[in-house]
Amino acid sequence: MAVEEMISHDAIAKRIGELAARISDDYAGKEIFAVCILKGSVYFTADITRRISVPCKLNFIKVSSYDGTQTTGRVNIDYGSELDISGRDVLIIEDIIDTGTTLGFLKSFYAGKSPASLKILTLLDKPSRRLTDITPDYCGFVIEDKFVVGYGMDCNEKYRNLDYIGIYSE
Ligand code: IMP
Ligand code: MG
Repeated sequence: MAVEEMISHDAIAKRIGELAARISDDYAGKEIFAVCILKGSVYFTADITRRISVPCKLNFIKVSSYDGTQTTGRVNIDYGSELDISGRDVLIIEDIIDTGTTLGFLKSFYAGKSPASLKILTLLDKPSRRLTDITPDYCGFVIEDKFVVGYGMDCNEKYRNLDYIGIYSE
């Protein structure tokens, strides 16, 4: 069992600064309705929202996937399904997009609730594993197909509080 550093704390912070600047430009004159997907996106959300210069409301949802062995697993919103997003400029904040199942579900769930706009921000993207046609609007780093932990991401609830992103191996 080992964790090998893949993206340092400094590299994460630098990239977050770049993304925050772009997002602040894109949303100039608007208010962002941020939706943080618990638990993995907590640190990313906390860090990037503090570097975004437009007003930003913080919201949280928790999702889980049922039928874990099925590739097109169903997703359930365990917490936060009642958020009123109509007329809001919604920015969904995710830690990592893998198959895209979670965000595919959330995107269609929210699209039916009349947001003014709906975009996806992800820290990491593993496009090689994609099973849906989800593309993030903002992405920190594209990575190869490795299981990563740290900076919010876990393996059985461990390693979330590492301040860097590492490759996990048994
Ligand atoms: P998707 O629905 O397949 O895109 O899965 C996305 C979710 O799976 C992420 O929000 C993570 O919680 C989890 N996940 C996917 N890949 C990893 C990884 O490499 N490390 C930790 N969690 C991951
Ligand atoms: Mg997640």
